[in-house]
Amino acid sequence: MPKIEIMPSILAADMGNLEQACRDCESAGADQIHVDVMDGVFVPNISMGPAAVAMADKATELPLDVHLMLIQPQNHIEAFAKAGSDSILIHIEADCDVEDTLKKIRGLGCRSGITLNPDTPAEAIFQCLEKGSADEVLVMSVHPGFGGQKYIEAAEGKLAEIRRRWPEMPLSIDGGIDSETVKAAAAHGANLFVAGTSLFSASDLTSAVAEMRANAEADYGIKL
Ligand code: DX5
Ligand code: ZN
Repeated sequence: MPKIEIMPSILAADMGNLEQACRDCESAGADQIHVDVMDGVFVPNISMGPAAVAMADKATELPLDVHLMLIQPQNHIEAFAKAGSDSILIHIEADCDVEDTLKKIRGLGCRSGITLNPDTPAEAIFQCLEKGSADEVLVMSVHPGFGGQKYIEAAEGKLAEIRRRWPEMPLSIDGGIDSETVKAAAAHGANLFVAGTSLFSASDLTSAVAEMRANAEADYGIKL
């Protein structure tokens, strides 16, 4: 199974100091930075755009994992790739040709990712995984749109189902992840942990990242 990585979501960082937040993530030992992009249509909230990705790209050497909560992601992938995204994740529920959009993301030199909402069954993405068009899977453990929501345990069954079929697939969990919930998510096979509120509200980011990593590593795969 792929290695454990911690990805702070800068949605929860101080918007007035985003560059500093990116540098802090790097010095705290994070592995990647997660950027949440919302259009006010696919989700009720509006957040960051390509300019925020370009800012993060300038501020840090860490890979940028860009989560597009957009109804029509196909119209924006080029701008996000140009801005310096390393991975671009779209939703299976989006209004687009998913296969084609994933292919185009790769064609732009980025890793392609597919995401599922809490109400979407794991089987919804099996076809695209069987075709090999996604480099990363993201399982949502909250209804997307806002940080600081409660972790939905029902995501764990989906993690396990995907991990059993695709043992080497980078598998991400996003929403309500803290030093406790990370254990169950890791136990069910997640290896990439997106965390906003818990990390950015910690008194010490370095120890919060280290604790999350240690807790994930301790329980990784034990419920598979
Ligand atoms: C939710 C976003 C998440 C969110 C996670 O729409 O996709 O990445 O920022 O935030 P926390 O860790 O606060 O649940
Ligand atoms: Zn996200």
